[in-house]
Amino acid sequence: MSQNQTLFERAQRVIPGGVNSPVRAFRAVGGTPRFITRGDGAYIHDADGQRYIDYIGSWGPMILGHGHPAVLEAVISAAREGFSYGAPTEREIELAEEILKLVPSMEQVRLVSSGTEATMSAIRLARGATGRSKFIKFEGCYHGHTDALLVKAGSGLATFGHPTSAGVPEEVAQHTLVLEFNHLAQLEEAFLLHGKSLACVIIEPIAGNMNFVRTQVAYMKRLRELCTEYGALLVLDEVMTGFRVGLHSAQGHYAQLIPGFKPDISVFGKVIGGGMPLAAFGASREIMKHLAPLGGVYQAGTLSGNPVATACGLATLREIQKPGFFEALTAKTRSLVDGLAAVAKENGVPFSVDCEGGMFGFFLMDKLPQEYQTVMTTDKERFNHFFHAMLDAGVYLAPALYEAGFVSAAHSDADIAATLAAAKHALR
Ligand SMILES: Cc1ncc(COP(=O)(O)O)c(C=O)c1O
Repeated sequence: MSQNQTLFERAQRVIPGGVNSPVRAFRAVGGTPRFITRGDGAYIHDADGQRYIDYIGSWGPMILGHGHPAVLEAVISAAREGFSYGAPTEREIELAEEILKLVPSMEQVRLVSSGTEATMSAIRLARGATGRSKFIKFEGCYHGHTDALLVKAGSGLATFGHPTSAGVPEEVAQHTLVLEFNHLAQLEEAFLLHGKSLACVIIEPIAGNMNFVRTQVAYMKRLRELCTEYGALLVLDEVMTGFRVGLHSAQGHYAQLIPGFKPDISVFGKVIGGGMPLAAFGASREIMKHLAPLGGVYQAGTLSGNPVATACGLATLREIQKPGFFEALTAKTRSLVDGLAAVAKENGVPFSVDCEGGMFGFFLMDKLPQEYQTVMTTDKERFNHFFHAMLDAGVYLAPALYEAGFVSAAHSDADIAATLAAAKHALR
């Protein structure tokens, strides 16, 4: 038996499903999850000593690859000074200043420990600031596992959602309206029916939790207009896209395409922690003044703004601001996705692909899907076969057809070439 299998059996005895986050269990693709022993640069190594080119990057944070020297140095030096104080530090101010410098839509930011915590707090803030309860989310977008966000669509626009998880009471879901992504007529109608009672709309600008689906520009523009018209706050969940699709995140791209575009509240995670538990949400001073200790919206955390995590995040953000960083990362990602598309074409496999900065998605279908239902029509068997063939060849892709992929600055041209060679074989 392989070490991975031995560890998986041992893990299943003491951890539900053997994992601490469900997607790691490989349930969607079958087979044994790899137990990772270490990472270096673009690679991760498993318990059997196999090396993989890593296109998950811890689901987004590892934009510099594993063990970047400057980040490692910052973390070690911070850890020597102390792990946690539960009192303010200068590094929290430095990180907040660094984030705000790159995200002009925010004047203030609050640091937390996970994306889930950040979106949960953003919605509470939106509700507190507007005095309204209801909000809109979209099918296929994931914003963490807060009760009110684990909700699927009700039977029509007049009815609110139903829980997607056991343990979430119907009453908690009754304020969440779930709409189809990129469906303009439905959005108009929802605002007509409920606009005046909406606290906010939360959306992934590029939905990485249904692989890679962009919010259409005209849709985003109208969404912004409707939110403003009805006094609902627009919350952009950039936990995945933040500092990953570009230095100014996805909102920077939309601001270039829609004059004056900006969200009311933004949520970040992943890259801003560089692989450590760190996330954030921010907005104008006017909105943020509602947060405790200034205002009545309570929000807190023992480890919020942790000194080691902020050191890791700060070192990461400093590296990605170096001249040419995103140009090089974008070119790398482009060469990967163009190469994959060419290989698929040679083999007559239906294929479409998209990318931005260091984030990409590919679909085993001719046209890029625009919403969740189409994403889920992917030929699952073909995807699973492809996933396992790539894994056997030492290429670690996301183990589910609805997950995005990530390229880091550590991936070399040789890594991309090796990936394409493996894909040639896997798609045959
Ligand atoms: C867009 C988005 N929002 C929120 C979250 C939740 O973040 P976390 O897993 O850190 O709680 C995720 C996690 O993948 C995400 O992709």
